[in-house]
Amino acid sequence: MSNTSRAIPFLDLKAQQARIAVDLRRRLDTVLEHCQFVLGPEVRELEAELARFCGAKHCVSVSSGTDALQIALMAEEIGRGDAVFLPAFTYTATAEVPLLLGATPVFVDVDPRTFQIDPAHLVKRIEDVRAAGTLKPRAIIGVDLFGQPADWPALVAIARQNDLFLLDDLAQSFGASLNGTMIGTQADATATSFFPSKPLGAYGDGGALFTESEERADLYRSLRTHGEGKTRYEVLRTGMNGRLDSIQAAVLLAKLGVFKEELEARERIACVYDQRLGNAVTTPKRVANSTSAWAIYAILLPDEAARDRTQAALRADGVPTAIYYPRPLHRQPAYSAQHDGSALPISENLAGRILALPIHPDLTDEDVGRICDAVLAAAA
Ligand SMILES: Cc1ncc(COP(=O)(O)O)c(C=O)c1O
Repeated sequence: MSNTSRAIPFLDLKAQQARIAVDLRRRLDTVLEHCQFVLGPEVRELEAELARFCGAKHCVSVSSGTDALQIALMAEEIGRGDAVFLPAFTYTATAEVPLLLGATPVFVDVDPRTFQIDPAHLVKRIEDVRAAGTLKPRAIIGVDLFGQPADWPALVAIARQNDLFLLDDLAQSFGASLNGTMIGTQADATATSFFPSKPLGAYGDGGALFTESEERADLYRSLRTHGEGKTRYEVLRTGMNGRLDSIQAAVLLAKLGVFKEELEARERIACVYDQRLGNAVTTPKRVANSTSAWAIYAILLPDEAARDRTQAALRADGVPTAIYYPRPLHRQPAYSAQHDGSALPISENLAGRILALPIHPDLTDEDVGRICDAVLAAAA
């Protein structure tokens, strides 16, 4: 890195804050004036705006993406003896939630180029569980990994054929679309996250559930507030404290105002990476007929040694990178005992070869040029 070039941030929330400062302050001041800090008017406004954004009938905001997944599974009464199918190559929360509820995660392999759950392997895993006869297949959690959508038409068909609840883990990919439709309505329920590093991120934890079913939306509202009924002190079921703060909703409303432009900026950067890096390293394959929220732009190197060398060379050039994920979930100490030993070769291979480059709307053209030059030099 030359002495005059700036350190490239992997994520630049300060630069983003400067772009939305006026609207953000106004909205935060309003919360400070009315002092309805939990489930206040901003939360209701946000739920309406989010539902409109992704075309869903109902949006129920919650306290995190993890809580969104948990509430969705609690509503279906998924628990002990139930099998929940999910990709082995995802963030820990996807597997943690079924386990917390006493259910068993059943790991499914992913596509080697799009990194999304592999529908053919999912069918095989459902057959495996039926043949073993110890668990009852109950649900599929399809993850939209890294910003791109999973193969929802295939997942919907498999869920219907097998009478399984279909949950979309959209934590990384709010803002993506498939076949001209925003992601949010494809599954029986969709859970997203507003963790600060997500494409649409709050200034703390937050999440949301989307569903077309009024009955499910009512259940989600009850479960996020201790299982309450029509009145505050009527407790209908075991729930949790899963509510969203008004301050987080105010931040998210300010960010929604620039979200479309930010998605476009991420797409422009992804196109530059595709074009400049495509002959030197393996760039991510785009899911057909989709748009990506580009939470993560991950390249593949030939092997682990090459990945680690590339990461070190980029670091020396002032280019930060990250590894999502260095271990597939079935290899994690917390989950390995749950795994039935089935081979998941693609997830294992990706964990040793993958490397994420910075991708966010506040990267300058010069930053993107420097990142490409550094990758090309490292790969040469
Ligand atoms: C795929 C996936 N699912 C679930 C979550 C959990 O979201 P949260 O951190 O808001 O609980 C994340 C967060 O990183 C995620 O990436």
